Amino acid sequence: MRVVILGSAAGGGLPQWNCRCPNCSLARSAPGRVRPRTQSSIVVSPDGADWLLVNASPDIRQQLSDTPVLHPRDGLRHSPIRAVLLTNGDVDHVAGLLTLREGQPYTLYGTGNILGSVADNRVFDVMAAGVVAREALTLGTRFEPLPGLAVTLFSVPGKVPLWLEDASLELGAETESTVGAMIEADGRRLAYIPGCARITDALRARIEGVDALLFDGTVLHDDDMIRAGVGTKTGWRMGHVPMRGEGGSVAGLRDVAIGRRVFVHINNTNPVLVEGSAERAAVEADGWTVAHDGLTFSL
Ligand code: MLT
Ligand code: MN
Ligand code: ZN
Repeated sequence: MRVVILGSAAGGGLPQWNCRCPNCSLARSAPGRVRPRTQSSIVVSPDGADWLLVNASPDIRQQLSDTPVLHPRDGLRHSPIRAVLLTNGDVDHVAGLLTLREGQPYTLYGTGNILGSVADNRVFDVMAAGVVAREALTLGTRFEPLPGLAVTLFSVPGKVPLWLEDASLELGAETESTVGAMIEADGRRLAYIPGCARITDALRARIEGVDALLFDGTVLHDDDMIRAGVGTKTGWRMGHVPMRGEGGSVAGLRDVAIGRRVFVHINNTNPVLVEGSAERAAVEADGWTVAHDGLTFSL
């Protein structure tokens, strides 16, 4: 199985358009210290020819342009992306669907809940019915978006997308709104979980023994955004478990057998983004890779 991380940043990207936090400023002035990153998305392929896109970020046009294996290669109109899967309805994961129009056939997969949010918003009708098939999936049921590639979705603690929050908001809920994807090919397994509010025993059991884990690296500490002075929201309020602290992902997943541990969906305020920082060195010493755009590996 081939995996390319198209975008390793969380919503807003790095630098974020309106942000002068230390990381965003360094990403502009010293890209060797803080590497710029686009918003959250990966592609996976069983054979290097046909690809499943998992999450469609607002930066997808640039991501496709920067990734030669995703360029059209057959005939006048073509895309190696044959299927698209959504793990939640957040803007950073669905806005790129608006770019994937122009009459290109593919199948869009997601839970009924996530596809329902997309269907309710008529701007997404640019993915014309009859061209783009939409297939709602049941949690726990294995499906094959491409020959030789199998996916099973499972719910993880999370919340509804920010743009759908209302008075009934429940934090840490395990519903169809935020899911992880277990992706399998040739007996190898990749778990992709870009958003997760809490480490649970069920999650640990689910990912035990995977060859690779791509996991929510939004915040280092629950109060990153407050420390950085850019907002008042905690990781918990945003639906993202911190890397550090009691209940954090580094400690919470330490005893789980995982071949390769990679943080993705990293918010621009996260101190691990600074090359050579103590925070980066510490997560690496704990066995984690901090993803960058274009990071590619085979399982
Ligand atoms: C998140 O991951 O918390 C969301 O992408 C936030 C948002 O929708 O802006
Ligand atoms: Mn996000
Ligand atoms: Zn910033």
